[in-house]
Amino acid sequence: MLTVLAFESSCDDTGVAVIRGTEVLSNVIANQDVHAQYGGVVPEMASRAHMQHIIPTLDAALGKAGVGASDIDLVAYTQGPGLNGSLLVGATFAKTWAWQHQVPSVPVHHMHAHILAHFLSPEPSPQLPFLCLTVSGGHTQIVLVNAPDDLQVLGSTRDDAAGEAFDKLAKLMGLPYPGGPLIDRLAAQGNGQAFRFARPKVDGLDMSFSGLKTSVLQFLTKQMKSDPDFLSTHQVDVAASVQSAILDILMDKLSLAVEQTGIREVAIAGGVSANRGLRAALAAREQEDGWITHIPPMSHCTDNAAMIAMAGLLKFEAGERGSLDMAPDPRLPF
Ligand code: KG4
Ligand code: ZN
Repeated sequence: MLTVLAFESSCDDTGVAVIRGTEVLSNVIANQDVHAQYGGVVPEMASRAHMQHIIPTLDAALGKAGVGASDIDLVAYTQGPGLNGSLLVGATFAKTWAWQHQVPSVPVHHMHAHILAHFLSPEPSPQLPFLCLTVSGGHTQIVLVNAPDDLQVLGSTRDDAAGEAFDKLAKLMGLPYPGGPLIDRLAAQGNGQAFRFARPKVDGLDMSFSGLKTSVLQFLTKQMKSDPDFLSTHQVDVAASVQSAILDILMDKLSLAVEQTGIREVAIAGGVSANRGLRAALAAREQEDGWITHIPPMSHCTDNAAMIAMAGLLKFEAGERGSLDMAPDPRLPF
């Protein structure tokens, strides 16, 4: 059984993990607080913070896993997509470590890793083929997973990603970045039917969220004109209604994908899969429609390096090999 050391640095979190086979021995994340005051991630500050965090995070991951450098058989790292400077720090560090310790390295696509995290134990792995709704800050896709190295995008967003929609709508509500988890928390106390926002119609399995943003903006502007306290007095209902609209768009398209493919094995992945409303909506389909659903544990939803390790191991087993001159790619195609 191979022991894999992995690095994730695509955005603003520095992650280092160790797995053995499908078992997570450690999964350490150093979050960056510096961005909250700017309302979004500042790329140059993120790269600098990765440089500060990567060695202590590596030491913590090896220590927690109870392994030394000589126990590592393979290094995996995020090649892209993501922020160029952030990726460069992680990829350069990972490849250097692999070269220094004479072990192979394998580059990983960040979104493949979100999906392949479903193969980490102790959760039961999805049966192939399965459908995966991948929802993060940069991506929203419905993916048909035929095999770990055969992933096919059936539909995707035409504008904002679901996480981006959560964050932008949260900003309209005056909430700090990243607003997704805050909307989730507020929505739990509100009524999702209180206000009805537009659900843009798009053909097939593609999605769109920009019309929803306009709809919420127009609604709030109008309400605030007649009642300047509207947002503070209706915060939980606005949050719940915003969340309902986003989840309706996602669940409608996922249902259509199940209908079109006949595949009932359905997973969610990516940062937005931490959303309690989405988790509940998916789980409900087990009873209602006989879906077999896979909901990742919270620690595997948002960015982490255990998912990079799992994806790296599966790709390595499928014959993929990296080389030291492999460059990170901020726009790495799926
Ligand atoms: O996958 P991820 O950690 O990073 C990217 O690869 O983008 O996803 C981050 C996104 C952010 O937009 C964040 O607001 C959203 O996931 N997010 C959530 C929740 N937790 C994270 N959105 C809604 N509800 C949540 N509980
Ligand atoms: Zn991610």
